[in-house]
Amino acid sequence: MTVQRLAVVGDPHGAWDESDAAVLARVAPDALLVVGDLSDGQPRIPALLRRLELPTACILGNHDAGRDPSGRTLQRQLDGLGELHCGWGLRQLHPPGLAVVGARPGTAGGGFQLSRAVKAAFGPLTLEESAERITAAARRADPGLPLVLLAHCGPAGLGSEAADPCGRDWKKPACDWGDQDLALAIRRIQALRPLPLVVFGHMHHQLRRGLGLRRSLCVDRSGTVYLNAASVPRHGRDPAGRELRHFSWVELEVSDPQRARVLRASHRWFDRQGRLLYEETVHRGDRPAPASLVAVQPC
Ligand SMILES: [Fe+2]
Repeated sequence: MTVQRLAVVGDPHGAWDESDAAVLARVAPDALLVVGDLSDGQPRIPALLRRLELPTACILGNHDAGRDPSGRTLQRQLDGLGELHCGWGLRQLHPPGLAVVGARPGTAGGGFQLSRAVKAAFGPLTLEESAERITAAARRADPGLPLVLLAHCGPAGLGSEAADPCGRDWKKPACDWGDQDLALAIRRIQALRPLPLVVFGHMHHQLRRGLGLRRSLCVDRSGTVYLNAASVPRHGRDPAGRELRHFSWVELEVSDPQRARVLRASHRWFDRQGRLLYEETVHRGDRPAPASLVAVQPC
């Protein structure tokens, strides 16, 4: 059985430094996926990501434009990431042999809204045009590679409660805050080829208004696994004072790319030396999905 081990970085919001690179060097995943909101437009994190000796794909989020509606800050982030950025495009990683298709960059969720910065950097386009760009990128992907979708906000359709993977929690009424163009693209892509995994962030795990924790994973009827990686802040300390670095983690079985499937998905917290201190498993491919999140337990 061939398994790819994918590390996923949820919204850093500035929390990314050399210690994360050191953890990755120790843990040695096969690839790294970064879901955006690196910072508020500062150049530091794109430069650090470019230095990683690890196959990496990234998509930018709404915060990456800074407070600059001209699109120039967003463009500098795109330039800083270079080929790592796969928004509205295809990035094929060799090794490990993985096709990553990026959804709409710069999204703040909420169905379909383009910020002034996104319009300035990419031009105006409709929901249909955005969905078609995503679908077209998937059509170009090598059919011999497993396909993963990388998005900043997840798709519409994953639930309308505040605690759902893309549920609005910051004001009432709760509603589905997912992206409609991405949902449309996913339906089209699933008609073309298997889609084992969609990863995204933006909707932080910790809910506002004291509502607890978000459900960070669901599986649709096609078997596609949707993973929200936005554990924010991703740098922290445990009660013993040990520093923690969060990565979401996916093990993808790829012996037959046409039947690629997620064996396991979890949230992992490592210390600065790359030792796994805590893990919350949210999906096991060989078992029914858990009804609710499992409390984090020391390993
Ligand atoms: Fe965001």
